[in-house]
Amino acid sequence: MSQAQPLLETQSISKLFGSVIALNDVSFSVRPAEVHCLLGDNGAGKSTLIKILSGVHQPTEGAYFFEGEPVSFNSPREALERGIATVYQDLALIPLMPIWRNFFLGLEPTKGWGPFKRFDADFAKKTVREELLKMGIDIRDPGQAVGTMSGGERQSIAIARAVYFGAKVLILDEPTAALGVKQAGVVLKYVVQAKTRGLGVVFITHNPHHAYAVGDRFTILKRGRTLGTFTKEELSREEMIRLMSGADELDAISHELEEIARREETVDQELAQVDKQLAKTLEKLDDDTGTVQ
Ligand SMILES: Nc1ncnc2c1ncn2[C@@H]1O[C@H](COP(=O)(O)OP(=O)(O)O)[C@@H](O)[C@H]1O
Ligand SMILES: [Mg+2]
Repeated sequence: MSQAQPLLETQSISKLFGSVIALNDVSFSVRPAEVHCLLGDNGAGKSTLIKILSGVHQPTEGAYFFEGEPVSFNSPREALERGIATVYQDLALIPLMPIWRNFFLGLEPTKGWGPFKRFDADFAKKTVREELLKMGIDIRDPGQAVGTMSGGERQSIAIARAVYFGAKVLILDEPTAALGVKQAGVVLKYVVQAKTRGLGVVFITHNPHHAYAVGDRFTILKRGRTLGTFTKEELSREEMIRLMSGADELDAISHELEEIARREETVDQELAQVDKQLAKTLEKLDDDTGTVQ
């Protein structure tokens, strides 16, 4: 595993939205050539953390370092300029546009520099095809509309695009959430590809199996706090599933249910007792009446 200095690091970050504490004292980092999985239940604060990393939000407290320097991003563009690329689940791709146009969307040159000196449709098509091939995706026709591609392929285009435009950190917010097993496998492959090419990847997922398949380190968030950061050696898959799934809470609930069932049993027994008592009293009453008659 990579032991290099972190590309990106937060120290004791907190984020408040009014009175809502979305994050509380969270320290997190990602190194080059590392996949760091960010795990946790709904509302745990995962999206808030990556929005801070990617310049959408500013932390209320704590420090943020990029390549060892303190940074304060005022917009996603500022973070992107430093090489922090974020791929959201609802991809910023336009379904009706061809792949090559999507690939260069918003990044078309206004002035000629670098590869863009030669920018034209043919160049763009060729580049997209080559870049995707590097990730093992063979698109026959870069002119194909993005909308005709599978969910996994679309995620891959977004990843290839970030890599091509020089991202150092790739942040993926639940890229496999809406995908079937096979398509998720395709995306996981590209996550590993990005890592192999030296990027630091922050991979957010609900799925412990996806996380364990590609992750080097794991940070688990719970109600805005971190339960810790673990390497694969420090955390078995079973423990991770347990920490993630809120299994403790499920245990507590099932204990409560057992308790209720036990109480109901007791009540049933008591009722049976009362019934018996009542039957006896009635019998006795019958007998007594009998005696009187
Ligand atoms: N813009 C916002 N305004 C107010 N509350 C927010 C905002 N964004 C997130 N929150 C709250 O912060 C907490 C963490 O949310 P979020 O980071 O989206 O969690 P996750 O991505 O892990 O599901 C939740 O209680 C959520 O309601
Ligand atoms: Mg989220």
